[in-house]
Amino acid sequence: MTKNKRKVSTEESLKFIRQSLKSEEMDHLEGTHFDSFFPHVFVTLGASGDLAKKKIYPTLWWLFRDNLLPKTTTFFGYARSNLTLEELREKCSPYMKVKSDEAEKYEEFWKLNHYMAGSYDTREDFAKLNQEIEKHENGIAANRLFYLALPPSVFEKVTVHIRNLCMGLKGWTRIIIEKPFGRDDMTSQRLSDHLASLFKEDQIYRIDHYLGKEMVQNLMTLRFGNRIFGPTWNRDNVASVQITFKEPFGTQGRGGYFDEFGIIRDVMQNHLLQILSLVAMEKPASCHPDDIRNEKVKVLRCIKSLELDNVVLGQYVGDPDSKDPEARLGYLNDPTVPVDSNTPTYALAVLKINNERWDGVPFILKCGKALNERKAEVRVQYQDVPGDIFDGKAKRNELVIRVQPGEALYIKMMTKSPGITFDMEETELDLTYCSRYKDLKLPDAYERLILDVFCGSQMHFVRSDELSEAWRIFTPLLHQIENQKVQPIPYKYGSRGPKQADEMAKRNNFAYYGSYKWIRP
Ligand code: NDP
Ligand code: BG6
Repeated sequence: MTKNKRKVSTEESLKFIRQSLKSEEMDHLEGTHFDSFFPHVFVTLGASGDLAKKKIYPTLWWLFRDNLLPKTTTFFGYARSNLTLEELREKCSPYMKVKSDEAEKYEEFWKLNHYMAGSYDTREDFAKLNQEIEKHENGIAANRLFYLALPPSVFEKVTVHIRNLCMGLKGWTRIIIEKPFGRDDMTSQRLSDHLASLFKEDQIYRIDHYLGKEMVQNLMTLRFGNRIFGPTWNRDNVASVQITFKEPFGTQGRGGYFDEFGIIRDVMQNHLLQILSLVAMEKPASCHPDDIRNEKVKVLRCIKSLELDNVVLGQYVGDPDSKDPEARLGYLNDPTVPVDSNTPTYALAVLKINNERWDGVPFILKCGKALNERKAEVRVQYQDVPGDIFDGKAKRNELVIRVQPGEALYIKMMTKSPGITFDMEETELDLTYCSRYKDLKLPDAYERLILDVFCGSQMHFVRSDELSEAWRIFTPLLHQIENQKVQPIPYKYGSRGPKQADEMAKRNNFAYYGSYKWIRP
């Protein structure tokens, strides 16, 4: 990343424009830097919305505060609401986490911001947006980033207007989009085709924010930067792999939105499947984003479409005994949810990867809302030790990669109980980040990902062929749930989900002993 405080003359800028244009190809190869001399314009479309105020503006502010963005970046908000910049600032303020000694910098940030009201389907408004952007490009040119924080209904029109009216003429233009990327294979393909008709794939950044999380990014390093895991990372040693996402709260007023999608589309088809592909893929030829994504696609192609027999679906009901009024309400008590909704709020699915490495090893994906805890983790459970000499006392090894909360990596293992005895006990090799790395402040997933877009690194973004494989795996099941009105199993708010899920995990070679005790150091 280049950093320079100098004011840049037009001539110098032009030189850098030329260099930058030449290096644009390199950007995609390297993706590790941006051109700090070159003006950048970050446009948030849907600036008045929830995502913008909760995630995008705070992320931009944190990146700006930490001097991580090109010095010459200006920010534009665009939405239908007639807001002043002051009102936009007010909306964002609860989420910006400004410390008392940052007031001056915070003012500087807002001075670089602009807001414009306009509709999403009017050509003239986008022409005006383009004029506004041009005014701030020092009369030269700029790299432009468009973040689409918009409902899918306006997606197509907005992207057409960007293509026709708002492309950077000399610098690059990149488009950042958020899920949902369609509802099934067909709708997603339609969207991909639409985007492909307007932009090149290397201009499109599909965000799956789980790919911006520290421990998800660590999977590559763990697997391919260590000798010890590689030789056992296969069907000869691994009994099952569990990838879990749990949230201890329900839909919290988002029921209307959630009901259209359900937990499989909301979490499993994207976040959990992305993690699965990083856990299961073969070693890429290099760390080049396309080498990695090629391997991810390849492993996804080895997975058959999911069948209902390999799935447990649940929907939470209120717990009348809970002290928390929220937990006394079930999913169907949410007034924005249809009274007879069969949308799952919990799902466990068993996927099999038909390749030489993983044949027969169950990959158990598990996710749910209104459960007993907040947690996201990967659990690689090893097989029993063959030729047991300890009367069945040895429990299986497990490698646990905890994504959140409290990033950690621990290996559950057996050890001789210390002392005169020859007994054995369960213990762990423990890499807990907050103990190992004192005062560590990890960046938020969005910070990493937005910075990646500036740098032109697509390593942590979803390519269209990955997306279409993901939909191929889940679409038949999703259609069956909808067409046959498959009924989810009720589970209590605050529980671990339906007991049928544990039974299915057990049938799929996941052993739970209930004997492991962790003593916090
Ligand atoms: P456990 O043996 O307690 O749990 C292992 C797995 O069993 C979990 O995936 C859990 O799934 C599942 N499970 C829990 N109850 C049941 C049940 N009744 N039937 C079937 N499956 C069940 O080991 P953990 O690895 O979870 O460790 C215990 C605690 O110690 C955790 O809170 C862990 O975070 C903590 N710990 C923290 C460390 C650190 O911070 N470095 C290191 C080691 C441990 P589910 O998620 O679905 O409930
Ligand atoms: C989003 C889902 O993608 O991820 C939400 O739409 C979920 O339903 C969220 O709450 C979880 O993200 P995180 O980063 O809080 O684990």
